[in-house]
Amino acid sequence: MDLFEYQARDLFEKHGVPVLQGIVATTPEEAKAAAEKIGGVTVVKAQVKVGGRGKAGGVKVAKTADEAYEYAQQILGMDIKGHTVHRVMIAQGADIAEEYYFSILLDRANRSYLAMCSVEGGVEIEQLAVERPEALARVEVVPTEGITEAKAREIVAQAKFDEETAAKVVPVLVKLWDVFKKEDATLVEVNPLVKTGDGQVIALDGKVTLDENAEFRQADHAELVDKSSADPLEEKAKEHDLNYVKLDGEVGIIGNGAGLVMSTLDVVAYAGEKHGDVKPANFLDIGGGASAEVMAAGLDVILNDPQVKSVFVNVFGGITACDAVANGIVKALEILGDEEDKPLVVRLDGNNVEEGRRILAAANHPLVTLAETMDEGADKAAELAHAAN
Ligand SMILES: Nc1ncnc2c1ncn2[C@@H]1O[C@H](COP(=O)(O)OP(=O)(O)O)[C@@H](O)[C@H]1O
Ligand SMILES: [Mg+2]
Repeated sequence: MDLFEYQARDLFEKHGVPVLQGIVATTPEEAKAAAEKIGGVTVVKAQVKVGGRGKAGGVKVAKTADEAYEYAQQILGMDIKGHTVHRVMIAQGADIAEEYYFSILLDRANRSYLAMCSVEGGVEIEQLAVERPEALARVEVVPTEGITEAKAREIVAQAKFDEETAAKVVPVLVKLWDVFKKEDATLVEVNPLVKTGDGQVIALDGKVTLDENAEFRQADHAELVDKSSADPLEEKAKEHDLNYVKLDGEVGIIGNGAGLVMSTLDVVAYAGEKHGDVKPANFLDIGGGASAEVMAAGLDVILNDPQVKSVFVNVFGGITACDAVANGIVKALEILGDEEDKPLVVRLDGNNVEEGRRILAAANHPLVTLAETMDEGADKAAELAHAAN
């Protein structure tokens, strides 16, 4: 889960990383009140989960509270790279002398963590990495050791900070590691980390990604979820513990096991080439227990996606045998009743397949087509989606 800048700022503050005052506002009036409360020069900052807000006109320095009102009016409702601005943060203005870059991230390829640091911050780091890779220090952080003071010294030495600044940056890096470790983050990025005119080192922007797999031990993280922008179908799937990802196509897909679902996506995309280029509409893994309730919840999620024109249910019976899955489908269709009006192609294989097919054939539901093989099922589902398009 990616956080907004104001949420990252709050986590930084919680762990002792130096930050400036920041107050969230959703209206120009609130922005003005916040600017008055902070006093002096403030910065109105669009809160969207995308970088490059400054360049896009989403970060504006306001000399007075009235200016903060004006800028908030301009920025609220703005579209930044496809993200609508619903909130701004009114931040205390910093007197910036220098801008640096620092990040810690999960380095999957090396099964480790990586710290990146540069004295040339503020700019887009991807650009710096390509154009002047020598200006970007990359230091491995061993997960069991983390960023100790010694490690932080190694990082700032590689990034070529001068002695005086290095001494001020080191404790900040150690605290940023605390944020990364204690909050179970997979990314903590500060761009820019600044030095002010009076020599303080402050995190002026923050990008944090939290590891959703650590939810069970991070009770506080639930309230960081941005419910206003969550996809309602993804929310619904989550409530039922279903693994659901919305895609852009027309063929809804339900399978059991991530491997089977992924190969089903491929087969459907391939079959779709012959049928008006229809594509998979989603990824939905109902997991091991394909009970009637789980099947009904899964179908409910998929059928509620207006882009879906047909559904392909591709299940391999294992511990949950095909007859149980077939009963699940029949009962699910009963539960959904007249709400369900899209064609369903079902392919069953594996444990108790004969009985499973018999149950579906006996139910003889007008919307259900049985397929013998995965290829045949994918082809039929793609054909039906194309015909309905
Ligand atoms: N509180 C602040 N005070 C002064 N300048 C700021 C402040 N926040 C941001 N800036 C300036 O605006 C630039 C862009 O802001 P930033 O928060 O990094 O947004 P983004 O990375 O999305 O463009 C920063 O590099 C900095 O120069
Ligand atoms: Mg930035």
